[in-house]
Amino acid sequence: MHSIRHLAIIMDGNGRWAQARGLPRSAGHKAGINAVHKVLRGCDEHKIANLTLFAFSSENWRRPRNEVRVLMDLFLATLKKELNILIEKNVRLRFVGDISAFDTHLQHRINQAEYQTEGNSGVSLNIAVNYGGRWDIVQAAIKLAQQVREGVLEPEDIDIEKFGASVCLSELPEPDLLIRTGGESRISNFLNWQLAYTELYFTNCLWPDFDVAALEEAVTWYAGRQRRFGQTPEQAKAAT
Ligand code: FPP
Repeated sequence: MHSIRHLAIIMDGNGRWAQARGLPRSAGHKAGINAVHKVLRGCDEHKIANLTLFAFSSENWRRPRNEVRVLMDLFLATLKKELNILIEKNVRLRFVGDISAFDTHLQHRINQAEYQTEGNSGVSLNIAVNYGGRWDIVQAAIKLAQQVREGVLEPEDIDIEKFGASVCLSELPEPDLLIRTGGESRISNFLNWQLAYTELYFTNCLWPDFDVAALEEAVTWYAGRQRRFGQTPEQAKAAT
């Protein structure tokens, strides 16, 4: 069975989970934090070294102001409350996305959390905030263009490998499996570059209901996939 070195998740369905219970949407986001803990435990069990979660997209600013505020408050409260637990669990926490748009207090907490967990050797937990896959590709293009301007890179030397080294999370293996909860079957501008060969798993389960058993189901589904990376089924079989 091929292993999962990197799992990416679009955590969708918090609002509907709450509404189905007559609760405010914020209650769904809070319940979503419990699901994150469960998945972290599952990653330990399945020896998944890297977990990347889509917590706030660059498009989520379009939500009602109050919901955006609730989400920001929740990120801040979660960082304060959970950082010690993550340190105890040996988790390395990193954020991907343009955090310069956040309030300075939150930016400070984010930097501090990254710094305090930098040396941890357990699961590497990457939280995508104010992240968009197209933004990521554009910021990579800007980096490369700057190198061209500085005279350290020739335009014709830009290739897939160099470009890939400039997008976020380039130091990690690309995601082997993407899980999207909440019943939609789309990528929604998440890791557009990095998901080129990723197996995509969509489930109707709402994010707050996602638990170790639900992860198990996704992992079992993944184990049955044949990853061909453009080769024929026979070639791919011979390569495994
Ligand atoms: C999508 O559900 C979920 C979000 C936009 C927020 C996800 C954030 C969390 C679960 C909190 C995690 C926080 C950390 C720090 C890891 P939705 O609101 O779009 O649900 P709906 O589709 O049912 O409306």
